[in-house]
Amino acid sequence: MEPQPLDLPLRPRRNRKSEGVRALVRETRLDAAQLVYPLFLHEDKADHALESLPGVKRYGPAGLLREIEAGLKLGIRAFVLFPKVPDRAKNPTGEEALNPEGLIPRTIRAIKKRMPEAVVITDVALDPYNSDGHDGIVRRGVILNDETVAVLCGQALVQAEAGADIVAPSDMMDGRVGALREALDDAGHESVSILSYTAKYASAFYGPFRGALDSAPKAGDKKTYQMDPANSREALREAALDEAEGADMLMVKPAGAYLDVIRALRDATTLPLAAYQVSGEYLMIKAAAASGWLNEDAAILESLTGIRRAGADMILTYFAPVAARLLARK
Ligand code: PBG
Repeated sequence: MEPQPLDLPLRPRRNRKSEGVRALVRETRLDAAQLVYPLFLHEDKADHALESLPGVKRYGPAGLLREIEAGLKLGIRAFVLFPKVPDRAKNPTGEEALNPEGLIPRTIRAIKKRMPEAVVITDVALDPYNSDGHDGIVRRGVILNDETVAVLCGQALVQAEAGADIVAPSDMMDGRVGALREALDDAGHESVSILSYTAKYASAFYGPFRGALDSAPKAGDKKTYQMDPANSREALREAALDEAEGADMLMVKPAGAYLDVIRALRDATTLPLAAYQVSGEYLMIKAAAASGWLNEDAAILESLTGIRRAGADMILTYFAPVAARLLARK
């Protein structure tokens, strides 16, 4: 029996009939300028491939400048720096974070001298500098809030002085955004922006990052300062505080398992919103692709598009250069 045509005036498939029509009705776009490229650096001259993050390197000074230059050519405008600090420079108060001749300030100056147009974002937190491996100062097993905030202000000032465009506190101490704003303004750095890690969760997906920097906590976990993965209302509370304290941009981290939180913050604030596709999210795609069961390029673009669709204006991702190349080809 011949099937009868359906009497169907509404056929959504008409809007998917060709790539040209699909491009016309596409709701979410991805652009290299919306990507932020996280870069690891160290004191060694040579670059070092990271076992925990296949395809990612920890850079020496020359390699780092080359990687940023290549990123700029691909249309990536912003870069966030993460240092591996030698053990001998670590102590319980993370004092090395205040050294104006430290790895980060030296690197910022070198970038800004060669490529002043590169947007340099710095991480404000003590974990790479702190011998306890925590984002804050530890006393008798307790992560101290207010004492930590005072050091973070000094750290941000050193970064601003060296030429950072945006400082990004990732430490989750209470009150740090307001304190950083005041410290920056008092020192004449009122044009330095604050990108706050507003909703940073105590996540298993940071594992490969800590491997890359040898920055895992020596004891305990980060649950007294990073957020409980079970909570989303709490993210709205953090967002309201960050906004009131003067943050210029907010962030949700990780991204993939927290798309609802990205959407909730997008709907609750007019501030620009970032999301961080973290090291474990990167590794899941890389490992699955290496097994041969996943199309890597397609999975990269789909994961980033999903994060944009949820409401992120910008995405921090280790895939930045690969994604920028894929987008240029499309
Ligand atoms: C530390 C910091 C972490 C990341 C960015 N900044 C690790 C942590 O909080 O333990 C993780 C990023 C990633 O996993 O890609 N302040």
